[in-house]
Amino acid sequence: MKSPEVFMVRGSPVSKTPNGLPLYRQLAEDLKSLMHKGTLRGGDRMPSIRKLTQAQKVSPATVMQAYSVLENEGLIEAKPKSGFYVKIQTTRLPPVPSVTQPSRIPQRVQVCELVERMYRDSNQGFEVDLGAACPDPELMPSERLFRIMSSEARKLGPKANTYSFPPGYEKFRREIARRSLECGVEISPDEVVVTAGAVESIHLAFTVIAKPGGIVAIETPTYFNALQSIQNLGMKALEIATSPEGGISLAGLEKALQKYKLAGCFVMSNAQNPTGTTMPDEKKKALVELLAKYRVPLIEDDVNGDIYFGASRPIVCKAFDKSGTVILCNSYSKTISPGFRVGWIIPGAYQRQVENLKFITTAGSSLLLQATLAEFLRNGGYDRHLRGLRKHFFEQVNSMSQSIARYFPAGTRITRPQGGTVLWIELPESIDSISLYERALKNGISICPGPLFSGGKGQFKNFIRIACGYQHTPKVDKALRTLGQLAGGSIVGGEKNGVPNGI
Ligand SMILES: Cc1ncc(COP(=O)(O)O)c(C=O)c1O
Repeated sequence: MKSPEVFMVRGSPVSKTPNGLPLYRQLAEDLKSLMHKGTLRGGDRMPSIRKLTQAQKVSPATVMQAYSVLENEGLIEAKPKSGFYVKIQTTRLPPVPSVTQPSRIPQRVQVCELVERMYRDSNQGFEVDLGAACPDPELMPSERLFRIMSSEARKLGPKANTYSFPPGYEKFRREIARRSLECGVEISPDEVVVTAGAVESIHLAFTVIAKPGGIVAIETPTYFNALQSIQNLGMKALEIATSPEGGISLAGLEKALQKYKLAGCFVMSNAQNPTGTTMPDEKKKALVELLAKYRVPLIEDDVNGDIYFGASRPIVCKAFDKSGTVILCNSYSKTISPGFRVGWIIPGAYQRQVENLKFITTAGSSLLLQATLAEFLRNGGYDRHLRGLRKHFFEQVNSMSQSIARYFPAGTRITRPQGGTVLWIELPESIDSISLYERALKNGISICPGPLFSGGKGQFKNFIRIACGYQHTPKVDKALRTLGQLAGGSIVGGEKNGVPNGI
């Protein structure tokens, strides 16, 4: 977390400022202004009393008084043995986005052509990347991984340079099986198939359940790579209303099940992308039972499951699977390494087909990378790393929400993610998010426009997804302010009478 250096606010060794305010009041006002500008944000540690005393040439009592003003106004809080922190404000955020009512008819999926362009553009990099749901590489344990990798290469010798056919490297699969217990899933290592990331897991899963013209029920909004798979396999999508607060509508899904013979259903049960919603356990159970009743397989993507903001690791739908028809897809791309391209799938009843298909498509995944991950999971301090990462993402999501509320136009709505690294934002209806994307790009800023998250035409045209995986630096804050301006928000500071614009 950022521990700000001492800021040079106006200070003088007299007890009143030129505008007649007592010194401590002026100091409090100046610190507040730094909070409004985003220099000091929710979760940041305030400068220590000693540092501020020296920098401002005021007495410790003046700083204490200023801090007590800010504390009384609910802007900062004291933490035992740690100092004062800027309070994460959640009460003044605008409402959550509305639930959209999708078409009740299965549609041929047409993935927005922007998806491909965004991938290509992102290879060149953006000045400020608010588009990719990717963790800042600085937050990944790269040094430790590289050290482990060279030690594993030495241990394996030339064997490190051979094929690792499906289901994949045993030691890695053992670690996956061990960690699955935490998500409520009891499996043997033999039930895990290693893939080249969750994207491959999802595509393998769709391929084994695919039927030409088959219908897949999906959340709306949903993850665009899943839409690409559905389109690629010539299937249709039936979008089911999904609330940013509770997830997919089971009533809506049941109606669809009664009306159509579905080939499958795809959900992200924990920290859904893009809404950040985690389904309650009872709902996961009800979903699995409902689909089992109609003998419809569930493809579950749990890529954000380890980035939870609650007290404990949420379980997965697979935990309730009695018939082997839940196919669980996952990877460590969001927490350890997106670059390794190592993921896995727990295919249940579809194990043989998935292993075969994996062999046909890529023959296997890199043995050395699997060995590196296995060792990192066993002895590398993954849990400690995760604790820091979760705290970081939680603070990022909160402080960026605050900035968005401040800079974006009235009528903006923002999700309250329960995990993950993204915010889903509904803008006033008049705003076209694709045109906003183009204008943002001219300013060096990338975002994800809403239409990418639906297979139908015209859905989410005034929505955007903002990724919070990179540090909320003053540069990122400036980019959010620019975005707010481009979307028609207020230019200066973004507040009217101390109330964020978005309210
Ligand atoms: C919900 C979701 N599933 C899957 C993936 C892909 O994961 P991987 O990089 O392991 O292929 C992503 C990446 O953005 C994602 O957001």
